[in-house]
Amino acid sequence: MHPALEAETLYIQHFRRRDEARPLDYYLKQMDGYTALAKALKMAPDQIIDEVKKSNLRGRGGAGFPTGMKWGFIPKQSPKPKYVVCNADESEPGTFKDRDIMRYTPHLLLEGMAIAGHAIGAKVGYIYIRGEYTREAKLLDQAIDEAYAKGYLGQKILGTDFSFDITVHRGAGAYICGEETALLNSLEGKRGEPRVKPPFPAQAGAFAGPTVVNNVETLADVPFIINKGGEWFSRLGKVERSGGTRLISVSGHVKKPGVYELPAGAVTIRELVYDICGGILGDKKLKAVIPGGSSAPVLTADEIDVVYDIEPLMKIGTMMGSAALMVVSEDYCMVKLIKRITKFYAHESCGQCTPCREGCKWMEDVLHRIEDGHGREQDLALLLDIADNINGKTLCALGDAAAGPVSSFVRKFKADFEAHIRGKKCPNA
Ligand SMILES: Cc1cc2nc3c(=O)[nH]c(=O)nc-3n(C[C@H](O)[C@H](O)[C@H](O)COP(=O)(O)O)c2cc1C
Repeated sequence: MHPALEAETLYIQHFRRRDEARPLDYYLKQMDGYTALAKALKMAPDQIIDEVKKSNLRGRGGAGFPTGMKWGFIPKQSPKPKYVVCNADESEPGTFKDRDIMRYTPHLLLEGMAIAGHAIGAKVGYIYIRGEYTREAKLLDQAIDEAYAKGYLGQKILGTDFSFDITVHRGAGAYICGEETALLNSLEGKRGEPRVKPPFPAQAGAFAGPTVVNNVETLADVPFIINKGGEWFSRLGKVERSGGTRLISVSGHVKKPGVYELPAGAVTIRELVYDICGGILGDKKLKAVIPGGSSAPVLTADEIDVVYDIEPLMKIGTMMGSAALMVVSEDYCMVKLIKRITKFYAHESCGQCTPCREGCKWMEDVLHRIEDGHGREQDLALLLDIADNINGKTLCALGDAAAGPVSSFVRKFKADFEAHIRGKKCPNA
């Protein structure tokens, strides 16, 4: 067994239980449920934020922004109500870890949100959950009812002056509503389109009030931090500036796909694929990995000796994103794969920004003709040019999410594209 699998874990031992229908009993007995909230309510808000800063917790939703710093941006005094919004949209292809938290340990999330509420001075929290997660939405509602019945949510929580309410809001199946400002618009009943920033949500978020938007896993980490201390959490991580453990969604051509939990930065991608996930299906060779959900630039099989964490991946021009590792074996068509990914982004572009609305569709069309055997030699330069005209030129990062993968596929797997163009068909077909 790989030594990283013997390290302390926070979540994985509580997943895949059979008694998921009674989450509160389990949470109280097996996970010291709501003791962190009781402790936090005796702390000053700034003390909580300091503890989260010390923990080196970085957002688990994609950008890896330091959570304590984000909470610190919320103004202390505000004429408008403040809000805690949980991003449970989990819409990045390849990502399925938040689902397990909501299914098996929903109270961790509720407790983390209530602590965040006390830290920033919010009385209201929303969980924006993707429409497809019907079962998880029901489980969350059930957990919220349990928490109200026992006084962990609602008025005067645990006999203090602190009150906090949580409402589950279901999305309607749009990737863009995972982008935090599109999410806020959707939550307000508007069209799910990203907002112009600034103002950032910390200044004017939900209903124009100061708002913290955090991923499910980020918020679920908070009770551990309060109970065991920021320094303890930080030490769980094996690289600097990255605390805690990471829930990693592994999919594609590996023998043992699934959700794994490892200390942040404890393994390289090679160790993750071969030692932890059992290697490639059919013992084939590895062709590529996409390290952070489909919006992360692709890596070749020669690039997998990199530590799997935020900064090491950034240094080699890709990203950890939502920690969704997608594995591709030797005989899979890279043109087909990037065409499929680009079709997704073209479909999910909200259409507000011209480079994204037009460019994603153009890239899809060019990739389609290459895959179909009608590609032209100049199409590769054309793809790079379109991608370059999208990258960094849109209101939100959906444009970058579509452009980065296309440029990386074309640059790193040029021979595959050329084989399609010259042979006028897929060489694997
Ligand atoms: C197009 C797009 C989709 C996104 N989808 C998600 C998502 O499904 N879940 C999520 O937590 N963050 C998603 N994000 C990132 C959020 O905008 C935001 O950074 C995150 O919720 C912040 O939480 P964190 O600091 O805890 O990571 C997405 C961003 C973009 C640009």
